[in-house]
Amino acid sequence: MNTILKKTVFAALCSVSLGAAAKDVDPESGFIIAPDWELVKAQCTVCHSSKLVTAQRGSRKTWESIIRWMQATQGLWQFEPEMERKIFDYLAANYPPGDGYRRKPLPPELRPPQ
Ligand code: HEC
Repeated sequence: MNTILKKTVFAALCSVSLGAAAKDVDPESGFIIAPDWELVKAQCTVCHSSKLVTAQRGSRKTWESIIRWMQATQGLWQFEPEMERKIFDYLAANYPPGDGYRRKPLPPELRPPQ
């Protein structure tokens, strides 16, 4: 491959991978900017770094169990139901399982025969 072609391919690959991950993030906390991110930033960085939150992935159920665990053992306060719903919605939508964490399952035609 000649150099110009290599550079072009490299640039194309970079823009594909950046494009897939291009979400606006708050430069201060690293939280993805999406509905209710400021609420989550305010509530979830009082005791620890936002990185502990942004490094975690999980379904709504997983996020709920993490928060229940902090409430039961780490002194996290109770939330009003409406606020709690917003926090779970934000976390489950923006930090779901499989988002850069685990690949998607293979489509059936690519799986080994059973
Ligand atoms: C009252 C203090 C407090 C607040 C507020 C708080 N946490 Fe935590 N959280 C903790 C403590 C303590 C730990 C354990 C830290 C450690 O292991 O070093 C923790 C750990 C975590 C972890 C890592 C869990 C694991 O299994 O390692 C996640 C994810 C997390 N918190 C998310 C959140 C989210 C989301 C919020 C906002 C809803 C939040 N935290 C608010 C106290 C808090």
